[in-house]
Amino acid sequence: MPEGSMGISNIATCTAPVNIAVIKYWGKRNEELILPINSSLSVTLHQDQLKTTTTIATSRSFQEDRIWLNGKEEDINHPRLQSCLREIRRLARKRRSDGDPGLDSTGLSHKVHICSVNNFPTAAGLASSAAGFACLVHTLARVFGIEAELSAIARQGSGSACRSMYGGFVQWIMGHQDDGKDSLAQQVEPETHWPELRILVLVASAERKPIGSTSGMHTSVETSCLLKHRAEAVVPVRMDGMIEAVQRKDFPAFAELTMKDSNQFHATCLDTYPPIFYLNNVSHQIINLVHQYNNYYGETRVAYTFDAGPNAVIFTLQEHVSEFIQVVRHFFPPETNDGQFIKGLPVNCAPLSEEL
Ligand code: DP6
Repeated sequence: MPEGSMGISNIATCTAPVNIAVIKYWGKRNEELILPINSSLSVTLHQDQLKTTTTIATSRSFQEDRIWLNGKEEDINHPRLQSCLREIRRLARKRRSDGDPGLDSTGLSHKVHICSVNNFPTAAGLASSAAGFACLVHTLARVFGIEAELSAIARQGSGSACRSMYGGFVQWIMGHQDDGKDSLAQQVEPETHWPELRILVLVASAERKPIGSTSGMHTSVETSCLLKHRAEAVVPVRMDGMIEAVQRKDFPAFAELTMKDSNQFHATCLDTYPPIFYLNNVSHQIINLVHQYNNYYGETRVAYTFDAGPNAVIFTLQEHVSEFIQVVRHFFPPETNDGQFIKGLPVNCAPLSEEL
């Protein structure tokens, strides 16, 4: 590619959406390679919703690799960033030595400048690292001309990031090999599979979480016997049930497993020593509201799930969205939360028709 006035030899911009786990990943068996103790399953949001946008440029005039997150320069020597950069460059070198002229040899030695922005609060339990590392790896692969299976590289940035490499319903198969080569994300169903499914994010707090996922799950692995039981005996059965519920578009089964798995994940946080509290009073009120709403109708119309933070992610079907939003607005009036409380998100399909 001809070089521009800044000496830029290659540049690419990509976006990656967050994913919401309905069977949670919590705990590693190998911290360096990021290999999990259990498989997990998530729903990837629509590209136009909660997402990271990353631009990466290479240039022979760049003296060193650098990264800016949301406008602020961060440490490029972070080991997880280095793992992703190293793996992508290794693939690029391999491609070159295999005789593919896609990348000239000088381009390989060029330094990169990475610029990444989220359109949602970072570290508030909204899977920012998942979208961030998925986007980083995807954009790096573009810049270096790589077309390989990339989820194993994104996984080394942040475990949950491997699931954001695919749209729709995605499982992260834990794998059993020590080198992690079989610990990969795989699409279960594409984004077009369940067009009626909707996600609402109820923002209970946009503050940074007190304990990050990485250190939280480390302490859980060290101290929680419930987590061990969950990984060995509960999740394998739930993964099968969840895949079947998704394939059959069986909302009550999907919803029940989603809520039970979120509850068990937070129970393992309580079983961690010292205990970890991600939910707050508003989260608990939302859990009660969802169960009362479902009880009122005598069927499961709405489900909640919470990651490592107090914000609720609600799953429901399009036909129930506007009524459930009214119910939430009634119990949590907008004036008590600056109108920030509800964000309506279609999952991988046409935009919501409601004005939110
Ligand atoms: C609660 O992927 O952020 O969101 O691999 O240490 O970067 P690291 O952790 P991370 O953990 C996400 C945990 C979770 C559940 C999930 O997304 O499956």
